[in-house]
Amino acid sequence: MTETTSTTPVSAEQAAREQALTERVLASFNHTPNERLKEVMQSLTTHLHDFVREVRLTEKEWGTAIEFLTAVGQITDDRRQEFILLSDVLGASMQTILVNNPTTENATEATVFGPFFLEDAPYIELGGDIAGSAHGQPCWVEGTVKDTHGIPVPGARVEVWEADEDGFYDVQYDDHRIAGRAHLFTDQHGEFRFWGLTPTPYPIPHDGPVGKMLEATNRSPVRASHLHFMVTAEGLRTLVTHIFVEGDPQIEIGDSVFGVQDSLIKRFEVQPAGTPTPDGRDLKDKNWARTRFDIILARSDEQQ
Ligand code: BEZ
Ligand code: FE
Repeated sequence: MTETTSTTPVSAEQAAREQALTERVLASFNHTPNERLKEVMQSLTTHLHDFVREVRLTEKEWGTAIEFLTAVGQITDDRRQEFILLSDVLGASMQTILVNNPTTENATEATVFGPFFLEDAPYIELGGDIAGSAHGQPCWVEGTVKDTHGIPVPGARVEVWEADEDGFYDVQYDDHRIAGRAHLFTDQHGEFRFWGLTPTPYPIPHDGPVGKMLEATNRSPVRASHLHFMVTAEGLRTLVTHIFVEGDPQIEIGDSVFGVQDSLIKRFEVQPAGTPTPDGRDLKDKNWARTRFDIILARSDEQQ
């Protein structure tokens, strides 16, 4: 085969040399015992070689790429996962979610998980407050969890987490306090309700190599305002998603990790101070907001 995917013309002889190398590398995986691993490695080889040939990658550029990946590894530790961040800003996380969560009937769409989930978030009663010591505009969030046939799901576990009004998650605080996160369970009608904070836009961590890459490409690190959910229930597919704030300009500007799906944009209605709250909570002189998120979970056997 003498074709090349290069946009820069090369001689037929040169193209053949390059293709021969790709084929040798592909053949080196021929005896991989695990068929899936073989498929993945050979496809990766094909795309990687095509990329190098297409952009006619220079040795200096490849060196820069290696230095960049080394820096991504060096900044990564228990608290900072720069590789996930890299995958996020390249849209690879979101693409993997799309590939693995095809739209099933009317099920709620999934989006990126992000690095700020904690396993041991506190339990709250229905109507409780997830904010703790995190500051922001109080926001009443309510909704139902149903299956794709419209049957309510009682006892579904609803995990919620979000940043404070300054754009920080509790795990980014210096004092290890837990705030802006909790879990609760739906009632016998599949309903849930809680107080949270009206989400605000915030930048993903951008003081490392991924931030430098965003800067060099004139891209913003800012995420559209959102509230994270993870919903689990017996026999139903676990849903990891967020809701986004309708009218947030960052949705138009662009979410830095490509997580926005139209179906996940919700109206957050701001209520002037003094408006009675759904549960009689006295917010004194504060404005508050309210939103609704009705969640539909696919059955586990609807996964693929
Ligand atoms: C987040 O939503 O928390 C997040 C997602 C991807 C990268 C960084 C943060
Ligand atoms: Fe987030």
